[in-house]
Amino acid sequence: MQIVRQLDPLRDALAEFRKAGLKIGLVPTMGALHAGHMRLVEVAREQCDAVVASIFVNPTQFGEGEDLDAYPRQEVADAALLDAAGVELLWAPTADQMYPSGYATSVSVTGISDGLCGAARPGHFDGVATVVAKLFNQVRPDAAYFGEKDYQQLAVIRRMARDLDFTHDIVGVPTVRDPDGLALSSRNAYLTAEQRANAVALPEAMREAATAIADGGKVAAILEAAKARILASGFHKIDYLELRDANTLALLDVFTKPARLFAAAHIGPTRLIDNIPLS
Ligand code: PAJ
Repeated sequence: MQIVRQLDPLRDALAEFRKAGLKIGLVPTMGALHAGHMRLVEVAREQCDAVVASIFVNPTQFGEGEDLDAYPRQEVADAALLDAAGVELLWAPTADQMYPSGYATSVSVTGISDGLCGAARPGHFDGVATVVAKLFNQVRPDAAYFGEKDYQQLAVIRRMARDLDFTHDIVGVPTVRDPDGLALSSRNAYLTAEQRANAVALPEAMREAATAIADGGKVAAILEAAKARILASGFHKIDYLELRDANTLALLDVFTKPARLFAAAHIGPTRLIDNIPLS
């Protein structure tokens, strides 16, 4: 696996892939890789001839007081995982390659960025959309792979791609979970053993609520009961627990298909998010 940190050698390597007629798949990440990220790589490998993974802890998507400095960085271990998974090229740019001196441009996707994590993390999705637009232009992939774990992020990227005429495929990959149901996340590494044991209350309460809503129960009452259960299980704050249209992300107070349940909640210093479809 080639590891590339500068734009010129990246372009040279990609030109070789294109000359060979290879279909290029891009898997953007911030590193601290786990089986969720590696599932994206697997799907990209199934669908493409050459997989480019990126690792860049993007400062512009972290708010003040968020965990930019503490965010886990383990590039040597990450590179070994990607190499073993058959990734052809790791794009690990330096910060000055991404945001050179004088950098002044931002991509802002309105509407779909506003609720959910957009409300709790102002500016977050501008940072995500900007860096992903840059990665798309740098790599010009045939397909790019994103996890449903960050469903609003996936929706923002789909909207941006339509609006800015990126024509490659945007592929959403279902959330990978631990056996007890907790969604894998780089931030799970922050949890103490006790917090990790309690954290399973989030997907459990969500699953129960989703079933009750799909069975015709009253949405508001079910969500209130689920919030109480989450708060009784070691979480101290819930940013949101909401039913939304799976395509537009519009808030639903009555169940209509397609719908998804979305949650963000704090346990100790860690903020966890999750979302599940309603059948
Ligand atoms: P990061 O949090 O590293 O996630 C990289 C990709 O892995 C995202 O598409 C995310 O949705 C996916 N992912 C994370 N956990 C997953 C899980 N349990 N199951 C399936 N997929 C999972 O998301 C980002 O980085 C950044 O915002 C990025 C898109 C790279 C832009 O900086």
